[in-house]
Amino acid sequence: MTLPAPILHKTPRGLITIRPAVEQDDAQLGVLRKEALTDAPTAFGADLSYTAPFESGYWVDKIRKDTEAGSGLVIVAALAMPNSDGETPPAETLVGMTGIYRNMGAKSRHSGGIWGVYVQPDFRGQHLVDDMMALCLVWAKALGLRMVKLAVASDNAAALRVYMRHGFRVYGVEPAAIHYDGVDVDLVLMTKWI
Ligand SMILES: CC(C)(COP(=O)(O)OP(=O)(O)OC[C@H]1O[C@@H](n2cnc3c(N)ncnc32)[C@H](O)[C@@H]1OP(=O)(O)O)[C@@H](O)C(=O)NCCC(=O)NCCS
Repeated sequence: MTLPAPILHKTPRGLITIRPAVEQDDAQLGVLRKEALTDAPTAFGADLSYTAPFESGYWVDKIRKDTEAGSGLVIVAALAMPNSDGETPPAETLVGMTGIYRNMGAKSRHSGGIWGVYVQPDFRGQHLVDDMMALCLVWAKALGLRMVKLAVASDNAAALRVYMRHGFRVYGVEPAAIHYDGVDVDLVLMTKWI
């Protein structure tokens, strides 16, 4: 299928392209995912002890498999780093990422879920997350999904506001879904018909 078209997002720190991840993003995705789990440990169910996503080739493999099967898409926010010669294509630094998966069961293929939403601290507050979510939803709609779900820690007010703004609504709470550093964290379960 055709992947969603990139979105250009101007920020005071430079031009950021929100786009589907490509295999060349492998190394930076590993670093960014590790940073996300370190920066916001209670925001994600995954943890640092599962090291595969930080190893070379993990994202290449995931991107290939997801593309072949239509089972998911990784989205990145890539900051252009202009070269001094102004001619060669600018290098990019990844400053945000998220992903969406499609449930592949015969009775669940109408639905999917968003995971791993992360923007680096220096790039927060500029609604990069809006464009990342938008591309996820474009992909989901194009595949014929009708419902997308996600889960967010109950103490994550900023993220909750983001998802409400995108039309996600709460359908439940999973008590103590995450236990980290001696603290139980509830997960707010949200869904959006698309
Ligand atoms: C949640 C997150 C993805 C939002 O991304 P973003 O692109 O900064 O989103 P927005 O620009 O729309 O800002 C969202 C909220 O962050 C807050 N915010 C604004 N500037 C900020 C900054 N510099 N630093 C931290 N938070 C900021 C604001 O309260 C804003 O809410 P509002 O617009 O309703 O006032 C990002 O904060 C993040 O990666 N957090 C850590 C990981 C996480 O919690 N992921 C969600 C898992 S469910």
